[in-house]
Amino acid sequence: MVCSSLDKTSECLKLSEHKSLPRHVAIIMDGNSRWAEAKSLPRVAGHKEGAQAVKRCIKAAIQNNIPWLTLYAFSSENWRRTPEEIADLTALLRYYLKFEARKLHKEGVCVRIIGDSARFDEKLQREFKAIEQLTEKNTRLILTLALSYGGRGEIIQAVQRIAKDVQVHKIKPTQVTEEVFAQYLFAPDIPDPDLIVRTSGECRLSNFLLWQSAYAELVFVETLWPDFNEEHFNYILNIYVRRDRRFGSRPGLKISDK
Ligand code: IPE
Ligand code: IPE
Ligand code: MG
Repeated sequence: MVCSSLDKTSECLKLSEHKSLPRHVAIIMDGNSRWAEAKSLPRVAGHKEGAQAVKRCIKAAIQNNIPWLTLYAFSSENWRRTPEEIADLTALLRYYLKFEARKLHKEGVCVRIIGDSARFDEKLQREFKAIEQLTEKNTRLILTLALSYGGRGEIIQAVQRIAKDVQVHKIKPTQVTEEVFAQYLFAPDIPDPDLIVRTSGECRLSNFLLWQSAYAELVFVETLWPDFNEEHFNYILNIYVRRDRRFGSRPGLKISDK
């Protein structure tokens, strides 16, 4: 089901007082190109406006005291786009990281990058390192950017590293439990997302956090990413707090009883 409007937000629960807000929100930021096309603008205009929506989203996460926010910004499959669009996207990313780094740092945001960052050019990779190092001690919001990220690729790299560790007798095959496996993923210290949101009306994961999404609540909204704002963020939190998370257990069991 796609939630289509911001109706009834006013009569919603007071989020800041609600006990069951998600700890980790992950967002598939989709719809930039359709936003631009609808306005007869070049695709890059949609990506530029998408970067503004990222700022609004981070602000909303901080306002709601969400400790972990993960944003899917570029998938491993997005390398299939035209060289021109990839150049536009990487240029925008470099600009964003360069100019937002100090502001994010001042806000207490810790920026992490997951994905196959080696596929980006060296200049951009230096930007990744710089922002990660500058913000590494911050704790107000852990902002993970998924860049050149694919869930299957992440699982494969984990399997390869586990196989190596088995080969050198660091670990026995029977010791590979779910918990141990998760330690080989890109960000083992970050909890699984409680809530995964996708904008633009598409109802698929597109290779995002395949392992970690096992028990995430999924919310699909019609809003195109460049239009996303603080109100939309509150709206999705309100949908989340009404959900009954069961984890295979009996209905009505509270998350804290898990
Ligand atoms: C999302 O917008 C941004 C990236 C995938 C990089 P799209 O460019 O996919 O926009 P739509 O989905 O085609 O409208
Ligand atoms: C998914 O969006 C990836 C990101 C939002 C970064 P896409 O637009 O690339 O996904 P598909 O191709 O519609 O599945
Ligand atoms: Mg898309």
